Amino acid sequence: MLLIKFGGSVISDKTTYKGFREDVVRRIAKVLPKKDLILVHGAGSFGHILAEQYRITGGFEEWKRIGFAKIERDMLELNTTLVNILVEEEIPVVSVPPHAFMIMGEKQDLEVFDYLINYGFVPMSYGDAVFDKNKGINIYSGDLLMLELAKRYRPEKTIFLTDVDGIYNKPPGEKGARVIKKFSRNRNARTEISVTDVTGGMDLKIDVMKKIAEYSKVFVVNGFYPERIVDVINDRDFIGTVVE
Ligand code: IPE
Repeated sequence: MLLIKFGGSVISDKTTYKGFREDVVRRIAKVLPKKDLILVHGAGSFGHILAEQYRITGGFEEWKRIGFAKIERDMLELNTTLVNILVEEEIPVVSVPPHAFMIMGEKQDLEVFDYLINYGFVPMSYGDAVFDKNKGINIYSGDLLMLELAKRYRPEKTIFLTDVDGIYNKPPGEKGARVIKKFSRNRNARTEISVTDVTGGMDLKIDVMKKIAEYSKVFVVNGFYPERIVDVINDRDFIGTVVE
């Protein structure tokens, strides 16, 4: 079993509201296996811009209602666009929208994934605007969903597709920045890398990856180079980071 997350910055242009990177997604779709696969995708500019504008993580207030509705709509649109491309590649993808099956703060019921997997489908879920037991509404990060799925299905490999070459020792682009090939799950990354978005940014991502590494081998690779996914799948030397 392979668990893959398409990071929002890979599938969308984060600077343009609903900017979709169709060519990138098509190239990735061509290298994916057609079975024993679970997919999760992020939001990028289909989610983060409005999530911030409507302060969704702050919980429910009347004025946010239309913002929540728009995010749901935009995420469904992104998800359907992805499903279309993957199905064209003969991957039997079935969409599982989080707002329809989970409530934050309550025990998650992932049973529908069991059915999808048992019948050979490829479930595809995503980071989403969802209901929250305490706050009313909230943003559920695709990274946390990755953790739940990794815990339940213990995939042999978990791959995070990002827009950079892996986990860096300092923000990519800064002097002296280089990709860390092997990232130990005992390593403290907090002071080294810091980017924030509505779902907690890089620190949270690395925390989640370290937790997932308890159940699966975790890889961080650049989604703009799908051949690197092929290298990881085939246990070849690859450009990126392994968290173990
Ligand atoms: C965020 O999901 C969901 C919304 C903002 C609606 P993620 O946190 O998984 O998205 P990316 O990968 O950072 O874009």
